[in-house]
Amino acid sequence: MAIRSPILNVMVTAAEKAGRAIVRDFGEVEHLQVSRKGTNDFVTKADHRSERILISELSKARPDFGFLLEESGVIKGKDENRRWIIDPIDGTTNFIHGIPHFAISIAYEEYGELVAGLVYNPIFDEMFLAEKGQGVTLNNKRLRVSARAQIADCVLATGIPHLGRGEHEPYLEQLTAAMGGSAGIRRFGSAALDLAYVAAGRFDGFWESGLNSWDIAAGIVLVKEAGGFVTDINGKGDGLESPTILAANTAIHRPLSALLTGKPIKTGRTLLRKPN
Ligand code: IPD
Repeated sequence: MAIRSPILNVMVTAAEKAGRAIVRDFGEVEHLQVSRKGTNDFVTKADHRSERILISELSKARPDFGFLLEESGVIKGKDENRRWIIDPIDGTTNFIHGIPHFAISIAYEEYGELVAGLVYNPIFDEMFLAEKGQGVTLNNKRLRVSARAQIADCVLATGIPHLGRGEHEPYLEQLTAAMGGSAGIRRFGSAALDLAYVAAGRFDGFWESGLNSWDIAAGIVLVKEAGGFVTDINGKGDGLESPTILAANTAIHRPLSALLTGKPIKTGRTLLRKPN
């Protein structure tokens, strides 16, 4: 049993409690699927229930901290320098469709800096945890990003725009480039888990547009602590507040940015270009 910091212990306790409620609710969703009644209302309730449990547990342990939440927005804390950034169920569409791939995502931010992250898939009981400078674990085992250095050998994850969501044309250009250059592309439907899988080396890279900070804050900590890079798709910023995110192992991060954006990059004396 790994020794965890007090802050991670607080996050784990809250996530495990909310996770038990989500697992019960997911069982109901599977029944609702066949009853032909809309599942959306029920899932909205499940989302809110998870969020309420997380707020209550985290507030009990750290009464002064604030919140940024997917469902309830901002809750100011007495301590304005410390807050939780939370998605109570990331992968809601999967949840609605009875697909067991979704997660609770909790990040802890101090003075504007992300210092701890938790991503928990309660169905598979996979708990990804990271704290700044302390590395990252999956169910107490240490993780690293993959070592693959050629995009041609890499499996990439992405989020695909859909009805009423995202810019489809520019995305298709990115997808075409990634299809032509990589070993495979996956669209699993939870950005938090996509990032956790990059941290675990299951995916070599991940990119998406139009995400919210609660989808990715915890995952960003995981990828960085696993030795990966997180920026926007152009290789700038930290990906949290940007309209796009690109997370990958260090070897492919820049070439992947160049491939997706179609912009040549300079690495020392070598000029890398998007493959034809
Ligand atoms: C969604 C997931 C999904 C991504 C969507 C997000 P939600 O979050 O992260 O992978 O493609 O853009 O909105 O709504 O299920 O919390």
